Amino acid sequence: MNGGEDEPLVLGIETSCDETGVGIVRGTTLLADEVASSVEEHAQFGGVVPEVASRAHLTALVPVVRRALGRAGVSPGDIDAVAVTAGPGLAGALLVGVAAAKAYALAWDRPLFGVNHLAAHVAVDRLEHGRLPEPAIALLVSGGHSSLLRVDDLTSDVVPLGATIDDAAGEAFDKVARLLGLPFPGGPHIDERARHGDPAAIAFPRGLSSPRDVERHRYDFSFSGLKTAVARWVEACERNGRAVPVDDVSASFQEAVVDVLTRKALAACTSEGIGTLVIGGGVAANSRLRTMAQRRCDDAGVALRVPRPGLCTDNGAMVAALGAAVVEAGLPPSPLDLPADSGLAVDIVIVRG
Ligand code: KG4
Ligand code: ZN
Repeated sequence: MNGGEDEPLVLGIETSCDETGVGIVRGTTLLADEVASSVEEHAQFGGVVPEVASRAHLTALVPVVRRALGRAGVSPGDIDAVAVTAGPGLAGALLVGVAAAKAYALAWDRPLFGVNHLAAHVAVDRLEHGRLPEPAIALLVSGGHSSLLRVDDLTSDVVPLGATIDDAAGEAFDKVARLLGLPFPGGPHIDERARHGDPAAIAFPRGLSSPRDVERHRYDFSFSGLKTAVARWVEACERNGRAVPVDDVSASFQEAVVDVLTRKALAACTSEGIGTLVIGGGVAANSRLRTMAQRRCDDAGVALRVPRPGLCTDNGAMVAALGAAVVEAGLPPSPLDLPADSGLAVDIVIVRG
């Protein structure tokens, strides 16, 4: 296929957290990626408030679908399939997207695919770098999840190698930002402040990296000890009447997270004998993660694929990208009584009902 009319035209809907995203793709070509975010409504609470997110999805969804159709220059009759995030995510927020997707699929008489949000974070890379070479190792790092996956087939064979045993990587960024007095969501702010700081200023702990931990948790992550270490360090600083060096703390914290993420991802590539690493999820937008991953992949002879930052955070294009891969693979659609599953397991790529 070559990006032509014979490729499936898929509309994807994403409502698992605080972004109402609608994307339209043809095969691996991005035609529209429209997002309405309720992040400002949550900022005052320092985290996403589920009920507020659900209500925002309700008002945003139909206008965002219209905008995406307009941007792509297609009409509903052109759409071949509707894909929607069926999980994991906030239950009420997911329900809005799933209910809307069912309504569009029924009204347009097109197949419906309920897909996994995490696999969609991996699939979005197709829109930038083409179809994913398989097998690949995927590092998925977002506000709610941190996983290392072996991807033998993006649409049907995704095996978890490890995951966080406590906080997700993005959650750690958000919590540390909060204790440094930076706005929510904290990841981009830490990224920015770290540019002016010294990553070696403070030796923060690398979670689950000691030889004993690696025996039991080779591909697992832990960020809660790191978060506590930062909190204690900042408290000690304040107790001693010293100004907190926010740039240095940001840089040193970020270095600890990124060091562990890239080290474990490369270890998985090497021991599984796999030559492609793809990184997805909101934290994949982090500039230091991108630089260190590139350096370590180059050293190990591994090809690195990371989508551009705008495609790393939640959006509808990623859902449409996975939907198109599923249609291309000829897999059967989800039933119209498709449930939303807030705890959907990472290895279930398409929900069958
Ligand atoms: O994938 P995503 O948009 O939503 C979830 O599925 O959770 O990820 C959001 C997370 C937030 O925790 C945010 O702080 C983090 O991604 N994030 C970043 C950066 N941009 C977003 N973390 C570190 N550096 C960034 N540049
Ligand atoms: Zn996400």
